[in-house]
Amino acid sequence: MENIGLGTAAIGRPIYINIRHEKPRVDVSLPEFRKNGIGILDHAYSHGIRFFDASPGYGLAESLLIEWLRQKNDPDISVATKWGLNYVADFNINATVHEIKEHSLEKLNEQWEFSRKLLPNLKIYQIHSATLDTGVLDNKVILHRLHQIKKDYNIIIGLTTTGANQVEVLKRAVDIEIENEPIFSSFQSTYNIMEQSILELKEILLNTNSQLIIKESLANGRLIPNTTFKEHYGLYKYITKLADKYNVGADAIAIRFCIDSFPDAVSLSGASSANQLQSNLAAKTFKLQEDEMRLLSRYKIAPTMYWNERNQLSWQ
Ligand SMILES: NC(=O)c1ccc[n+]([C@@H]2O[C@H](COP(=O)([O-])OP(=O)(O)OC[C@H]3O[C@@H](n4cnc5c(N)ncnc54)[C@H](OP(=O)(O)O)[C@@H]3O)[C@@H](O)[C@H]2O)c1
Repeated sequence: MENIGLGTAAIGRPIYINIRHEKPRVDVSLPEFRKNGIGILDHAYSHGIRFFDASPGYGLAESLLIEWLRQKNDPDISVATKWGLNYVADFNINATVHEIKEHSLEKLNEQWEFSRKLLPNLKIYQIHSATLDTGVLDNKVILHRLHQIKKDYNIIIGLTTTGANQVEVLKRAVDIEIENEPIFSSFQSTYNIMEQSILELKEILLNTNSQLIIKESLANGRLIPNTTFKEHYGLYKYITKLADKYNVGADAIAIRFCIDSFPDAVSLSGASSANQLQSNLAAKTFKLQEDEMRLLSRYKIAPTMYWNERNQLSWQ
């Protein structure tokens, strides 16, 4: 797989968790919104991206991809999608609830019926935000159903993690077997300069031949220098210095940090516009030196602190 894929969370619904570097237009009609989404998919494709991550929780994202894949008709495109989160805001930008989690067999079967339209490009099917408390990793009926999907359609089963206990969830997940084989072989987790907790699993991921997909490489935009997070000033200063050195944006430095930490992983761009995507892709034009990686690594913060800050970000 190649290094950078496109996450579609920001193109499938009008608002999303971020700190809004580019103000969204609130008067966009649904057809216009779709057109813009298709435009970003095309832009990604023309710049060499062949991996796309979606979810029913991302509003129109799956339906945009289904429409677009039919036009493209390219077997080299790989899609990962998820089940377990429902988009409920109905494109109302004033909605207070945007998504609802439901890790039940009924939800899996219902969402699979739609997501399977992504076949044959659909390669990875993930539990969206697996946690220990929803009980999904202990639910034998669900695990067997996922195993059956894996066998019937020859796709990889994976899961995504979010929150301060990502490592705990991943350690538990790699050990789960159904019919004497690991059920999960793809893991999508948050990793970035500030949240490096999954680094301790590097060996395990390598030894189990698992695919790692890195999300939130920009910490939802927090890694791009801004005036909201004064406590990250030291990091912003160093990122800006590196950005100047390599003649790229701070976003490219943050994404390159992920690529150089996990060279075999796919790092997702969460760009919400073609301009942002272009800037993110500059991460492919250079490599960070060892001492630069070491200095950037020092800006990690405790996972609880990271996730507390993340939980205070608004949908906008
Ligand atoms: N639980 C899960 O499974 C889960 C959770 C989260 C994400 N994901 C996946 O991971 C993908 C990426 O995650 P993410 O979007 O949450 O996080 P991210 O990549 O850390 O942040 C993306 C945000 O950064 C800002 N940005 C990007 N490039 C920029 C640039 N050049 N200049 C200024 N701002 C820029 C944009 O914010 P603005 O819109 O404010 O400009 C964009 O929405 C998602 O699309 C999704 O596929 C999965």
